[in-house]
Amino acid sequence: MSDFQYKNGELHCEDVALSRIAKELGTPCYIYSHAALVRNFRAFDSAFQSVPHIVAFAMKSNSNIGLLRLMAKEGSGADIVSGGELYRALKAGVPPSKIVFAGVGKNREEIRYALSTDILMFNVESSAELRAIDEVAAEMGRTARVALRINPDIDPKTHPYISTGLKKSKFGISADRALEEFKLASSLKHIEVVGVHKHIGSQLTDITPFVDALKKVLGLVEALKTQGSNIRYINIGGGLGITYSDEAPPQPHQLAAAIAPLVRDLKCMLIMEPGRVIVGNAGLLMTRVLYNKEGEAKRFVIVDAAMNDLIRPSLYGAYHEIKPVHEATGAKKHQVDVVGPVCESGDFLAKDRAMPDVKPGDLLAVMSAGAYGFVMSSNYNSRPRVPEVLIKGGDIFVLRSRETYEDLVRGEAIPEFLQ
Ligand code: LLP
Repeated sequence: MSDFQYKNGELHCEDVALSRIAKELGTPCYIYSHAALVRNFRAFDSAFQSVPHIVAFAMKSNSNIGLLRLMAKEGSGADIVSGGELYRALKAGVPPSKIVFAGVGKNREEIRYALSTDILMFNVESSAELRAIDEVAAEMGRTARVALRINPDIDPKTHPYISTGLKKSKFGISADRALEEFKLASSLKHIEVVGVHKHIGSQLTDITPFVDALKKVLGLVEALKTQGSNIRYINIGGGLGITYSDEAPPQPHQLAAAIAPLVRDLKCMLIMEPGRVIVGNAGLLMTRVLYNKEGEAKRFVIVDAAMNDLIRPSLYGAYHEIKPVHEATGAKKHQVDVVGPVCESGDFLAKDRAMPDVKPGDLLAVMSAGAYGFVMSSNYNSRPRVPEVLIKGGDIFVLRSRETYEDLVRGEAIPEFLQ
């Protein structure tokens, strides 16, 4: 995370001292580096320059419209999973011709919305969904372009909650059933099968599952061709991992070196849906220490960010490095749990972590929080959601302001009979 560095003993994002952001916007606060976002996007995009491709940024990882506009300006499309994400993508200026729509439970309104905006395609996950898309397209007098999402039954060797390409998972169509589904799709008047799609999981740190899954899918493409298919797009999904602690995931150019030769001669457009690898290490969550607490059995550092702001540690046991914003001078470290104010024992940002001495008022940076950070935050315990800022050089741009108490009750009502 070279765009987050200590200068004169204080952590900076690009040229901005984090304490300046805390002063202007308070804490907690998500902070993204413009330079890191651009560099990560370009590294991914240019790695695949030898094959025609579309990078459809997986906006579930970070869907702020300011950040999406930046992606769109860099040439990115979007991988969406809901009508809400489509709305955001369009608002941010992502061209519909680069939008792909995945997810096992698209409802008819979402399908209608997507067809009306002429997105590139739906990644279809079941025959029931194929029929629903066909019906909606028929009502609208349109033809829907679709890719069949294949579940290649490959173990991505990642956290079970973020594995999606195993037989037991709810995602995709099994390779054995794919030909049948293709036959069904071909019989539907308002469906055109233009591609195949796979995504086997997230935070992958090894290339082998990517290659094995793609080979399986390509075998299917061959079989589909003999059935008269006109597959023009091969979507390999997302999933490339990042370094949170000591993982050494493949770099985009290494992934490209393994993938590109397999697809180069197929005369197909390659689609990729990276999320985490673009934004994960381009962002952090800044928080302030409220109290130190000596428990009976443990030491706690209580901070003002909580599981509702960053749920990954609680939900997946995920590791996020935590750095003091002002570089620690003493070498002494304590074993602590870094916890938030939410009333749950599962509310922690770090467990049994060796941390230097910190005192109330100190700022901490929870690193690698740009992906699946803010987007998974909630208002649990009626905590207003925190701001998001983009740092570019020496400038601070607010991408989302802190919610107010008013925001918390927006849309709620007290029934008339109780008034
Ligand atoms: N494409 C599809 C169809 C996906 O389901 C996902 C992520 C991606 C692309 C992007 O994957 P990425 O490149 O970001 O690994 N909340 C979890 C991650 C859930 C991932 C869901 N699908 C976490 O915080 O680790």
